[in-house]
Amino acid sequence: MGDVLCCLIIGSDGSGSSTSATRYSEILGTARKAFLQGKPKSVEFRKKQLRQLHKLYEENEDALVAALATDLRKSRHEALVAEICYAKNDVANTLMHLKEWVAPEKPPKGIMFLLDDVSIYKEPYGVALVMGAWNYPITVALIPFAGAIAAGNCVVLKPSEVSAATAKVLADLIPKYLDKECYHVVLGGVPETTELLKERFDYIFYTGSTAVGKIVRAAANEYLTPVTLELGGKSPVFIDDTVDMEIATRRILWGKCMNAGQTCVAPDYILCTKEVQDKFVENAKKVLRKWYGDNWKNSPDLCRIVNDRHFQRVIKLIKSGKVAVGGDSDASEKYISPTILIDVKGTDPVMAEEIFGPILPIINIRSASEAASFITSREKPLAFYIFTENSATRKYLLENVSSGGVCCNDTILHLSVETLPFGGVGYSGMGAYNGKYTFDTFTHTKGCLARSMNPLGEKLAAGRYPPYNEKKTKSLVSFMKKRKGLSFHYFPHILMFTLGVLSSFAFRSLAKKQPGKILNLVLNFPLKKYF
Ligand SMILES: *[C@@H]1O[C@H](CO)[C@@H](O)[C@H](O)[C@H]1NC(C)=O
Ligand SMILES: *[C@@H]1O[C@H](CO)[C@@H](O)[C@H](O)[C@H]1NC(C)=O
Repeated sequence: MGDVLCCLIIGSDGSGSSTSATRYSEILGTARKAFLQGKPKSVEFRKKQLRQLHKLYEENEDALVAALATDLRKSRHEALVAEICYAKNDVANTLMHLKEWVAPEKPPKGIMFLLDDVSIYKEPYGVALVMGAWNYPITVALIPFAGAIAAGNCVVLKPSEVSAATAKVLADLIPKYLDKECYHVVLGGVPETTELLKERFDYIFYTGSTAVGKIVRAAANEYLTPVTLELGGKSPVFIDDTVDMEIATRRILWGKCMNAGQTCVAPDYILCTKEVQDKFVENAKKVLRKWYGDNWKNSPDLCRIVNDRHFQRVIKLIKSGKVAVGGDSDASEKYISPTILIDVKGTDPVMAEEIFGPILPIINIRSASEAASFITSREKPLAFYIFTENSATRKYLLENVSSGGVCCNDTILHLSVETLPFGGVGYSGMGAYNGKYTFDTFTHTKGCLARSMNPLGEKLAAGRYPPYNEKKTKSLVSFMKKRKGLSFHYFPHILMFTLGVLSSFAFRSLAKKQPGKILNLVLNFPLKKYF
């Protein structure tokens, strides 16, 4: 995914960059003005925009499927399942829940604040930049885009120039459906991206390679802009001899062959014993023949490598180890067959970088602990796949290997659970999204304490005011002290008790002097919240 890498590092003074710089300043100016006027913040407005996005997917399915076919020879099946319908369902889910996500949260509060209002407000950051990747040009661009809209931001979307056909369709369609002041699509490659990153954004969400992720973060640092980086890495598969090998083989190959392996969470390599490897290879031959026939290249269900540069990169990796299955290619079509490599060493080129192609090397290990040390001696992966019937082995691997996410007994599907956060750790990324997590990513959580001016509360905390003395210090320190067992579950009961005691005292003394205050106290007390 590192297409923008080289030139971004040296910077670019390529022709047209100064005109694009002016244009980006104008776009940012328009977006920022709309944001400051509060336009994208109204919940009704957000919902309307999201409904429009849903409509965009519905009304332009064919154009989107065609663009994905041009870019990756993606089949209609994968275009709908992994991109268009996936993104559409995400919008529908957001629309169903937006009202509750936007509402301020009322977290539990300590006894010091029993009369006060403690809230967490959900605030949009401002103008967000969302940079998509070419492998799933709709999913990884428009899901964060929709999340940024849902959270009330203005958004600049930058689709990947590598998937040019889809980028163009998005640039044509989005202004037709969504508000033109709040939401913008910019196209372009390295010079444009370099210029764009010089602008000040309030949030940057990038999907792509670790190398470019570092550049994006460095650019964001200029304005201390928070970033989410959805990167990649070599996601390992562990299989032992306890699982149903037929099912396991299908599920691993499905994850590898989808989008011709150009998936950030594709199973990158397998760790297993020699015996398991033999069974896997034997099953794999049968499965692949069943899926793709006798001439795999003719199957309409296999995608192509996105461009020549990536084709040349991936084809070199086949030279590592020994080909056990596949190994064919056709440069004129950017076709590489599903390929399984055996006798691979950890130091081979295929193990040095994320493969991002339909090649599956197998590394032999003898035990789960050997697998764990192999993985942990490398950068942390985005996904980890554990195939075992043995719950102790599973527990051991879960607890001893760090990864962005885990899927047991299958591949990739953990992403489709919208209640699970999806994101990397270490070099596989920072921050997460999916379902509500996408909304949260683009939302600043603003804590707010609203103190009551009630004389009772004032009295309770009067020990904070000078002149200090030992008695005040002691009583405050003891009041503040965290006590085990004083759980918030019992808070309403403790509150009622305290209230009862205090009010009878307060009532007696106050009632004599200031009956008006008593009335105030009773009327202002937020009883409703606790019942
Ligand atoms: C994984 O599959 C095996 C059967 O092959 C099963 O015994 C085991 O319980 C499954 N693991 C989980 C987490 O369900
Ligand atoms: C590895 O996993 C086991 C549980 O299976 C756990 O007891 C142990 O603490 C873990 N080791 C590390 C270093 O996390």
